[in-house]
Amino acid sequence: MTTASAPGKIILFGEHAVVYGRPALAIPVTQVHADVEIRDSDSTGILIHAPGIRLHADLNSLPSDHPVAAVVHNFLFLSRVSPSPLTPLPKSEGKFPNLNITISSTIPVASGLGSGAAVTVALVRALSAHLNHPMKDEEVNAFAYDIEKLHHGTPSGIDNTVVTYAKPVCFIKTQPIEVFNVHKPFTIVIGDTGISAPTKESVADVRKLWEADQEKWESVFDEVGEIAKQAKERIETGDWKLLGGLMDQNHALLQEMTVSSPELDALVEAARKAGAAGAKLSGGGRGGSMIALAQPEKADDISSALISAGAKNTIVTQVS
Ligand code: PMV
Repeated sequence: MTTASAPGKIILFGEHAVVYGRPALAIPVTQVHADVEIRDSDSTGILIHAPGIRLHADLNSLPSDHPVAAVVHNFLFLSRVSPSPLTPLPKSEGKFPNLNITISSTIPVASGLGSGAAVTVALVRALSAHLNHPMKDEEVNAFAYDIEKLHHGTPSGIDNTVVTYAKPVCFIKTQPIEVFNVHKPFTIVIGDTGISAPTKESVADVRKLWEADQEKWESVFDEVGEIAKQAKERIETGDWKLLGGLMDQNHALLQEMTVSSPELDALVEAARKAGAAGAKLSGGGRGGSMIALAQPEKADDISSALISAGAKNTIVTQVS
């Protein structure tokens, strides 16, 4: 039996602008994770169980672009077990492994916490260990990025990067990954609206805005990039109090990009009223999650205020 796990993630600063080459900061959230277990099976084929989404199926019965099937097909192609990616395995050849794959995840789906990337990374790591095809982190990351592209159109690659390396990352598209240091730990409260919002749609809507007025949006993205740069400096020097204001500014720019929502704004407002130093939506927006910067002793109050304001769930996480 082989097991592998990958954490959730949140974006601290810079979402959406990161798609246009500006820096963004993201951190792993280890309180939630995707877990994969692989066992050799006595029956022919690759059986996939994901009880959380009521999936119990033979790999070949799933559409080849199914998020889980796509990972397995691509892996078997990469490791030269299968002759082509995204095609059903010809069972008759009998050279394919017989496996039982079980996937579970505590990361809420489509909530900005990187559930898709975490399942991909955990699954590819479990396959690589079980089928004896070692992969370096760079290869896992590149693999997960290809899968993200399949499902999200034009992703920046930030999700797969932070989930693969499980470290705080300052991410700039097409540049080598930069892990950043946290001088003094700080506390983030995550509030989940419970509204599932596909990132693909908000990214496509921001693109329409940008296409209609590139000059305006390039300068908005510059502002966001500058905020992310300043935030990184503050985090690296432990000057975290000024981070709150930067979060508020970033949220205002995300509102301008039309990716916030009444529910997200209500949670952001509730967190600020309950004493958060700053708050913003996190991830694709329109639903999903928001984050609030909290003094540790205020985290529980902020968490309760978020639940009262409609959050379906909260997570308190230390960034260190
Ligand atoms: O919804 P999430 O957490 O997957 O957010 C992705 C961040 C975006 O900047 C909106 C898109 C991207 O690919 O970077």
